[in-house]
Amino acid sequence: MEHLREITEPLLQWFQLNKRDLPWRRTKDPYPIWVSEIMLQQTRVEAVKPYYERFLQTLPTVKDLAEADEETILKLWEGLGYYSRVRNMQKAAIQVMEEHNGQFPADHKMLLSLKGIGPYTAGAVGSIAFNLPVPAVDGNVLRVMSRITADASDISLQSTKKDWEERITDIMPAKSPGDFNQALMELGATVCLPNGAPKCEICPVRKYCEAYRKGATQTYPVKAEKKARTIEHLNVFFCTDRQKIAIHKRGQKGLLSGLWELPNTDREIALPAALQELGILQAEIIPMKNRKHIFTHIEWHMDCYFVKVSEKKESELLWLSIEDAETSYALPSAFKKTWQEGLEIIK
Ligand code: ADE
Repeated sequence: MEHLREITEPLLQWFQLNKRDLPWRRTKDPYPIWVSEIMLQQTRVEAVKPYYERFLQTLPTVKDLAEADEETILKLWEGLGYYSRVRNMQKAAIQVMEEHNGQFPADHKMLLSLKGIGPYTAGAVGSIAFNLPVPAVDGNVLRVMSRITADASDISLQSTKKDWEERITDIMPAKSPGDFNQALMELGATVCLPNGAPKCEICPVRKYCEAYRKGATQTYPVKAEKKARTIEHLNVFFCTDRQKIAIHKRGQKGLLSGLWELPNTDREIALPAALQELGILQAEIIPMKNRKHIFTHIEWHMDCYFVKVSEKKESELLWLSIEDAETSYALPSAFKKTWQEGLEIIK
C-alpha cells in the first residue's frame, strides 16, 4: 500500500473498542508491564495470566525481584520455559536498583542496556509505560505488516525486522505509541491470525490490506523453513528409597542450565553403569511410561524408570522429601509427567 500511515487511526479506534481486558493493561507502572512482556514472549496470554498474578504477589516491586533468591524466581517460572528469561530479569532488576535508583529509566537506550531487554521489550515497555515513540515488533506485528503491504521479505531475517522497526517508527502516532504498538499486536493475536485463519471479515484495516485485495492472505508472511530438531535419547530415573526422591542439578551451560532435573543419562550408557554413576549401588528397576518433550531446537525421547533404591553412596544427587521437592525446587516441564507418575507409585 502507498500510504502506510492511513492504518494508524482505524487501528487505534479499533483497539479502544476491542482490546482485551488483561491484568497488565490496568497499570502504567513499568515493572509489571515488563514482567508481562517477558512472560508473553513464547507463551500464550491465557497461560501467562496465573503466572503473572503469582509473580507480582510474591515479588511486588523491582526491589523484591532484585533481592529474591534463585530458587524462588525459578519456582515462580516453573513450567513457563526459557528460564534464562527470569534469570536475566533478576539481573536487570539489580541494574535498575544499582544504576537507576530503583526506577526504570524512561529512555529507550537505557532500557536496551538492561539485561534481557532487546528491541522488542524496550519498545513495549518504553511505549506502554512511558509513551516513548518506539516500535515493538514481534511475530504478530511482522505477520500483520507483511500482509497489509503484501511484502514477501522473509520475516525470520533480522534485516526484515529492522526494516519494519524503521517503517513503524515513521508512522508512529505521537500521542499514543503504546496503544499503537499494542493495537498491532492485538490485531495479530485476535484477527490477523496465523496458519491460514485470518478473520478478514472483522478486520478494521481490511480496506488497506494488499494481501486481502489480492486474495493472498495465505501467502504472507514469508518465513524460511526451520531446521529439523535434533533428537536426543535419554534414560530418566525416578529414584526413591521410599522416603526420599533424588534430583540433580544440571550444569551451568546449555539447555535448562543450572536447573534441577530427574537424574538422567544418555541412552547409550547401559542401565547398571548409568545408575552406578549416580551412586546407586543396589536397586530394583521398573520401567515407566516413555515420554517425549519438545524444545525449540531439541527433542528429548526419554525411556523412564522407577528405581527402588536399597543401597546408595554419596553422589551428585540431592535426596529430598516429597514436600521439599514440590514446594521449593522448580522442575522443568520435561520431567513433570514422570515425576507425577513416580509419586502415584509411591503413594
Ligand atoms: N503480546 C505481548 N505483549 C502484548 C501486548 N502488550 N498486547 C497484546 N499482545 C501482546
